[in-house]
Amino acid sequence: MKVAILGMGSVGKGVLRMLGEKDLGIDVTAVADSKSALIDKNGISIADILRVKQKSGFCGDRSLGALDVVKKADYDVLVEVTPTNAITGEPALTHILEAIDRGHDIVTSNKGPISREFSLLMSKAREKGVQIRYEATVGGAIPIMHTLDQGLAGNRILAIFGVLNGTCNFILTRMADEGLTYEQALLEAREMGYAEADPTYDVKGIDPAIKLVILANKFWKETVRLEDVDITGINKLTNNALRLAEEQHCTIRLIAEAIPGRGILRVAPRLLPITHPLVVEGTLNAITIETDMAGEITLIGKGAGSVETASAILGDLLCIRDIHEGSHPETA
Ligand SMILES: NC(=O)c1ccc[n+]([C@@H]2O[C@H](COP(=O)([O-])OP(=O)(O)OC[C@H]3O[C@@H](n4cnc5c(N)ncnc54)[C@H](OP(=O)(O)O)[C@@H]3O)[C@@H](O)[C@H]2O)c1
Repeated sequence: MKVAILGMGSVGKGVLRMLGEKDLGIDVTAVADSKSALIDKNGISIADILRVKQKSGFCGDRSLGALDVVKKADYDVLVEVTPTNAITGEPALTHILEAIDRGHDIVTSNKGPISREFSLLMSKAREKGVQIRYEATVGGAIPIMHTLDQGLAGNRILAIFGVLNGTCNFILTRMADEGLTYEQALLEAREMGYAEADPTYDVKGIDPAIKLVILANKFWKETVRLEDVDITGINKLTNNALRLAEEQHCTIRLIAEAIPGRGILRVAPRLLPITHPLVVEGTLNAITIETDMAGEITLIGKGAGSVETASAILGDLLCIRDIHEGSHPETA
């Protein structure tokens, strides 16, 4: 199987490194970053491209860009791992639509296009008979989409609850464990590289709300949008609230919840017993799925990271390969 990769940042490089290390029968025939691209239908040397990018900051020819890769390269699957724009979904949305139009499958970690235009993307993909897989958009390494698609295939999903933002969880953990104020914990998160220079999307709950939209579109209805989510962040939380919670053997976590039966789509700080499965520490993510047959299932794991996110992307790529080879349950 041949793949073209758009984006050579943390995730793109992680995917390349893992493809280089593991013999999966997947060849990379094109890559692009923000200022250059490299196309070779015979396959690119992964070691060389990582070295060139590291040394020069460019991955290839500066007269080429991502759209040249999408339109001209020889590939089966487009791996779209450029930065997220949650408002427009661009430029990833254009890359993905163009590739679908040309009959290519898509694997992406980019929340922008998947949360903004889920319904459009899925209908275009169905029309063209191609796959769009987006495991890495929610929960990093946690295989939530595979669990919903395969493991729980016969179940009705009654509700999903999740700790979907590692930065917020780190801040809440530090406030509870060390008695830090919100500002002190945020500063520490920045120093550790967990929080962006502008942490608004995280601490105001917008990032977990975007992930909740993606989950809700998958198991509930394809028309859920960010505007439908009731969002409260952690930025107004005092350490007094955490101290009071502790007195009741509880703590506070930022929980994203989707409950179709009650029409609930919400992100808000919630009081939970310290023994609750969603009370995970530090930057971990956790997702509980409530089902009619399997009962409650909770998945816990790393919500971000170069190789961790590459794990989700490789899972999607291998799933597409199996579908093409006719050995995947969806094609049986
Ligand atoms: N990092 C994680 O742990 C993680 C986890 C889950 C999901 N994600 C999502 O995965 C995506 C990638 O994240 P990341 O951490 O790898 O980001 P990143 O480190 O900022 O890297 C982004 C890459 O995309 C390239 N790029 C920017 N605009 C482009 C364009 N128009 N065409 C082609 N390439 C372009 C950049 O080029 P230059 O190298 O030239 O700057 C860079 O190589 C984001 O959507 C993010 O939200 C990340």
